[in-house]
Amino acid sequence: MIKNIVIDGIKAENRYFLAPMAGITDSAYRQICRSFGAGMTYTEMVSAKALTYGDKKSLALLKIDDSEMPCIAQIFGNDPEVLAEGAKIAVANCQAVGIDINMGCPVPKIVSNGEGSALMADIKRAEAIIKAVRKAIDIPLTVKFRRGFTFDTINAVEFAKMAESAGVSAVCVHGRTRTQMYSGESHFPTIEMVKKAVSVPVIASGDIFTPESAFKAMNEYGADAVMAARGALGNPFLFRQFLQYEETGAYDATDPKEVIDTMKRHLLLTCSLKGEQRAVAECRKHMLWYLKGIRGSKKFKIIISTLETCDEVIKLLDEIKETCDG
Ligand SMILES: Cc1cc2nc3c(=O)[nH]c(=O)nc-3n(C[C@H](O)[C@H](O)[C@H](O)COP(=O)(O)O)c2cc1C
Repeated sequence: MIKNIVIDGIKAENRYFLAPMAGITDSAYRQICRSFGAGMTYTEMVSAKALTYGDKKSLALLKIDDSEMPCIAQIFGNDPEVLAEGAKIAVANCQAVGIDINMGCPVPKIVSNGEGSALMADIKRAEAIIKAVRKAIDIPLTVKFRRGFTFDTINAVEFAKMAESAGVSAVCVHGRTRTQMYSGESHFPTIEMVKKAVSVPVIASGDIFTPESAFKAMNEYGADAVMAARGALGNPFLFRQFLQYEETGAYDATDPKEVIDTMKRHLLLTCSLKGEQRAVAECRKHMLWYLKGIRGSKKFKIIISTLETCDEVIKLLDEIKETCDG
């Protein structure tokens, strides 16, 4: 039987979540990942400030389809009042089951505004933000952060304790520091230390690339759930593998033909949500990631990057699929 996790009444389908990834985990990709079994999805990070200005693009990021539920909306910012207001707007404008605050983003543009992982270096402000948002909304609140800002200021345990007492219903910890960005290894023992320090569920992020790594995070380091991020790029099949591994201790390799069919579904879904021109442009990176696992796809990768219409891409995908037959 597949285990699941309940976060303050929110029942995830299982313990394998799709991580928030800006520019990647849009509604189309969340739907695709859910269809392969992702137990929880997250929106891309949305600026609370932009929401308070009524920014249409930011509101569009909060569009959540029934088929991608349960989904948590992630917001970011640096001002308690603005985040509280932004969270209220998010709750009023989407069907998210919870709100997550991003306190882990390492990107210079975000950090220089005192947002994302910068809040790990300003724990008082982080606490004020969590308290303000907690007061403003009546659905579960979670927070996603890192091991610390730098190696000299590692504070994931202290941060998790602060977040719990300020009112979050779960914490998600990425076991890298801000300085590491996305390089080096994610430090799984941090997950274990945080788990021992708080009683709310702990979700592990960082280096969850295979069912084995997910199991390691949960069984050896005590994570209550895991999040796949880069491991899920062009690989929504990972979620099915997680579930298969939990049930049987083994999992099937992906079938190239199914990869092509999924690429088509992903593109067509994106076309229906964003229009053809935008869909073809935005799906290019996804297409290249999907093709990574397909033998002899090098020449197709070059061609696919030049195509501009959905029909052209579908035609090429059909050609690629034929090469998978032999
Ligand atoms: C392109 C990209 C975009 C990301 N965007 C977000 C985001 O919007 N919000 C967030 O909390 N984390 C974001 N992350 C971080 C991931 O959710 C995850 O914590 C991180 O990639 C570590 O997991 P991994 O080693 O399995 O990739 C992003 C990561 C990548 C690679």
